[in-house]
Amino acid sequence: MSAYVPGLEGIVAAQTAISMVDGANGRLVYRGYVIADLAEDMSFEEVAYLMWYGRLPARAELDALTLELAGSRALTQAARITLDALPTETDPMDVLRSVVSVQGVEHRLEKPSIPLAIHATASFPTILAMFHRRQLGLEPVKPRADLSHAANYLYMLNGKESSPDLVRALNTYLVLLADHGMNASTFVARVIASTDSDLASCLVGAIGALKGPAHGGAPSAVMDQLEQIGTAENAGRWMREARKQKVRFMGFGHRIYRTYDPRARILKELCARLNPKFYELASKVEETALQILHEEHPERPQATNVEFYSAGVLQAIGLPKEYFPPTFAVSRAAGWTAHVLEQSANNRLIRPQSEYIGPEPRKPVPLSERG
Ligand SMILES: CC(C)(COP(=O)(O)OP(=O)(O)OC[C@H]1O[C@@H](n2cnc3c(N)ncnc32)[C@H](O)[C@@H]1OP(=O)(O)O)[C@@H](O)C(=O)NCCC(=O)NCCS
Repeated sequence: MSAYVPGLEGIVAAQTAISMVDGANGRLVYRGYVIADLAEDMSFEEVAYLMWYGRLPARAELDALTLELAGSRALTQAARITLDALPTETDPMDVLRSVVSVQGVEHRLEKPSIPLAIHATASFPTILAMFHRRQLGLEPVKPRADLSHAANYLYMLNGKESSPDLVRALNTYLVLLADHGMNASTFVARVIASTDSDLASCLVGAIGALKGPAHGGAPSAVMDQLEQIGTAENAGRWMREARKQKVRFMGFGHRIYRTYDPRARILKELCARLNPKFYELASKVEETALQILHEEHPERPQATNVEFYSAGVLQAIGLPKEYFPPTFAVSRAAGWTAHVLEQSANNRLIRPQSEYIGPEPRKPVPLSERG
């Protein structure tokens, strides 16, 4: 038996052709393409195609996928009933997890496939937008087949089209977050896929893993922290005090990156342009956080991660902070489903071992003698 490694750090748990995270050099690659080359001009639909089919689409292939995504946006009746039954104060991540589960019921006996992946990916924005409208006491807005994935999400949330600049920013965000190696939620999705379970079960597990603040729950926690810090002048005092209490700075640190996260670099530029007020405080907090983390452990580099400036970009786009984590899921749906398909295509049950550290075998004392 090999030695136990806490957090499976450094353990290679799968082979994948979908994405590569090069932590030492701060590089993220989707199927051979460096993320910075995709983020500018590629649509989320093109990247989803890349995830599922392994190559960039030709015009006709992209048109066909766009049409199929647009045609798969409506929810099943059972999903709509579930959505309407949830209290309006429910966390949108819990809404997504519950409705994705119900949405998958009718396909539960089918093997994961690209059509099912498209269907699931198409439904995430509808679920979130419908719930958001309900929270506001507003009628749901029907999806529009003539709008892109990003544009239609904002349209369904707000009941009106957003500016091309904001749609473009959301598209960039969706492209950047679509996949990221063997992160916790993707690992969960692959573990579930390895048992030959159905796609919805894989996605429900993945959403549950993404929800935690150590993973996709961080951007709303970034907002909370910035709200508590309040002003640039207060950053040093608040943050040093926080570290005394062992509080982690949200949006900093990463299991793999020991240098600047390439996604954070792109989002930082977007944030500076779209959300200067957020940027003013955030850039001061970033400078202070990196300084404190360096002072604490100069031997263990910690850098800004994707979540920090995501928060400023998503706020500028007009999303409430509770919708930051599920919007991460809107993007990651493409990566999760691609990983499920990859795992299913060349499957071996993922079943590691544990090291037993409990008592030596012993005889149970009868209840009457246990006092
Ligand atoms: C992402 C994260 C979970 C990675 O954890 P990890 O792989 O266990 O981190 P490392 O092994 O590099 O470092 C662990 C140590 O660094 C410290 N550390 C890591 N990130 C830190 C942060 N954001 N603020 C303060 N200290 C941090 C931890 O306190 C720990 O120190 P300790 O052993 O003295 O308690 C962690 O950095 C974190 O919680 N970050 C904040 C949440 C966040 O932004 N999540 C989004 C991730 S994309």
